[in-house]
Amino acid sequence: MRHFLTLKDFTKDEILDIIELGLKIKKELKSGEFKEYMPKKTLAMIFEKSSTRTRVSFETGIYQLGGHGLFLSSRDIHLGRGEPVKDTARVISSMCDMIMIRTFEHSKLEEFASCSSVPVINGLTDSYHPIQLLADYMTMVEYGVADDAVVAYIGDGNNMAHSWLMLAAKLGFTLNIATPKGYEVDKRVLQDAYMYAKNSGAKINILNDPQEAVKGATVVTTDTWASMGQEDEKEKRIQDFKGYMVDDMLMKQASNDAQFLHCLPAYRGQEVSESVMELYGNIVFDEAQNRLHAQKGLMVWLNQA
Ligand code: CP
Ligand code: NVA
Repeated sequence: MRHFLTLKDFTKDEILDIIELGLKIKKELKSGEFKEYMPKKTLAMIFEKSSTRTRVSFETGIYQLGGHGLFLSSRDIHLGRGEPVKDTARVISSMCDMIMIRTFEHSKLEEFASCSSVPVINGLTDSYHPIQLLADYMTMVEYGVADDAVVAYIGDGNNMAHSWLMLAAKLGFTLNIATPKGYEVDKRVLQDAYMYAKNSGAKINILNDPQEAVKGATVVTTDTWASMGQEDEKEKRIQDFKGYMVDDMLMKQASNDAQFLHCLPAYRGQEVSESVMELYGNIVFDEAQNRLHAQKGLMVWLNQA
């Protein structure tokens, strides 16, 4: 049995296999062929934070695979009233076949997984958002920018930046990260990434200058400046991140046919301009839809592991 907590635990081949399986199932769906890969299986989805894409994609995905999804808001289950994580994990995993959790501390997810008898999927923690990266890379494959990719991540050194680090380090592409001073990625995550990069040949450049980061980039990406749980810091962050918006000027300094990705939700006029969002709307909303397809690949893969 395997959990999907970070990309650290997966080899390059496994990551590519999951994405390939997702693409295969997407093709089947688009041609009207519904294969029930997980008949009667149940997926428990625990949310301690808000979600649009993660909830809709997992609930729709498990249904399309022939199973059933249970949406469990922490406000409605006893976990939110102090029932221990380990008891919740034992109980839910005794009845369900797979569990997805979106929570705050990554250690809470790890504790949950260590007490679960079924595969646990990270639906986002403060430290990582690996399912998003499956969809992002799937989109890069479809748009022809996966090979020899040079990705520029502009903005906060957050869960998305950490997940890009792991993806680049595992798959072996170039990643330039530009954050304002004081908002750098976690040093321990960076150390892990450097370690994996030695094997894969990935080039990781940690910068503070967005213009330098987008030079030669074939993909530019960003994320909100104030993640869930940081709402109180929003105004300060808007000041501190001045000059880090991905706008037309910045995109012009990337490679000629550079693409833009955003995990969404996007805050136009902050991390991304209205114009960039609209110009790259096709790929960004395909990326969002690919959450469904990539996660179906993941669930089927974990169910067979
Ligand atoms: N990108 C993403 O995870 O979106 P949600 O927060 O809407 O699930
Ligand atoms: N960094 C963002 C990602 C949202 C999908 C957050 O954690 O809120």
